[in-house]
Amino acid sequence: MQTIVVANHKGGTGKTATTHNLGVVLAREYGLRVLLVDTDPQASLTGSCGVQDEMSPRDSSGRSRFLKQIFSLAEVLGGAKPGHVTMKDVLVDLGDNLWICPSDAALASTAVGLAARLQREYVLKKALATIAPEYDVCVVDCPPDQGLLTVNALSAAQAVIVPAQPTAQDLRGLLLFIETVKSIQQEINPDLAFLGILLTFFDARLKHHKEEVEQMEKAGLPILPVAIGRSVRVAEAAGACQAVFTYAPQHPEAQHYLALAKLVVERLALPGKTPSEPPAETENSLAVDEPTTQLTN
Ligand SMILES: Nc1ncnc2c1ncn2[C@@H]1O[C@H](COP(=O)(O)OP(=O)(O)OP(=O)(O)O)[C@@H](O)[C@H]1O
Ligand SMILES: [Mg+2]
Repeated sequence: MQTIVVANHKGGTGKTATTHNLGVVLAREYGLRVLLVDTDPQASLTGSCGVQDEMSPRDSSGRSRFLKQIFSLAEVLGGAKPGHVTMKDVLVDLGDNLWICPSDAALASTAVGLAARLQREYVLKKALATIAPEYDVCVVDCPPDQGLLTVNALSAAQAVIVPAQPTAQDLRGLLLFIETVKSIQQEINPDLAFLGILLTFFDARLKHHKEEVEQMEKAGLPILPVAIGRSVRVAEAAGACQAVFTYAPQHPEAQHYLALAKLVVERLALPGKTPSEPPAETENSLAVDEPTTQLTN
């Protein structure tokens, strides 16, 4: 199993949408056994996959009660003490070759508790090792921070994708986050490849977006040759507990995620079948050189 982490310490850059859509395309189009892992206590990925506690219908006083509570990554990782549930036992089968390890708000206390543990950076890596033979690829969604959950994800991964909006504020934050990735590569996980920066909410017609991309290139940042545009369909799909790829397969953003998956399969040499239709030429694709996988100072 190869693990790809989708991370950026800035909020709202499209990490969850990227994780979900990439996972769905790898599973459906490439026939890979894909495990999604939600490491964000906000549980947005868990919600967009339609996984939630089962509640009874509201009674006459408007109250409902738990029928079945899902276990989450919090019970697997534990906190100051090791978790009491195995990774295998929390996974939810979403069908079509896709599984998820859900998150919930309890993961916020996990992050605090982990600080007291020995080998605190490797807790997720060890949990994933227990189920690795069952899956071809694992795609991990991270919270918008550089805390222990993000560090655990980066420690467990072979590759990282950093979704970022092409704006000046995002560039400043991005440079800081890249320093974190470099430290992880140097001190914890030398096998971690930096797949590249995925431009999100990108519009090739906007002058300030083009200027920001130039600034990023000048700063030597490896930008992926695929970008995701802004479209209400992506948000609508998440609201309908779907990826845009299944919600509106012909939509340009669905095609851009297909192109991203193709790139990931090629770069990581994943053993997927050839998809039924090759990705369409994308309007906002970026013609840039192959990015490097190891960041340099
Ligand atoms: N390409 C897109 N076009 C339009 N809306 C999008 C797109 N991608 C994501 N969104 C919407 O933008 C919001 C933020 O996206 P998303 O949740 O993927 O970002 P995030 O980086 O995971 O955020 P957070 O840092 O809070 O975890 C969500 O409401 C999502 O549905
Ligand atoms: Mg998110």
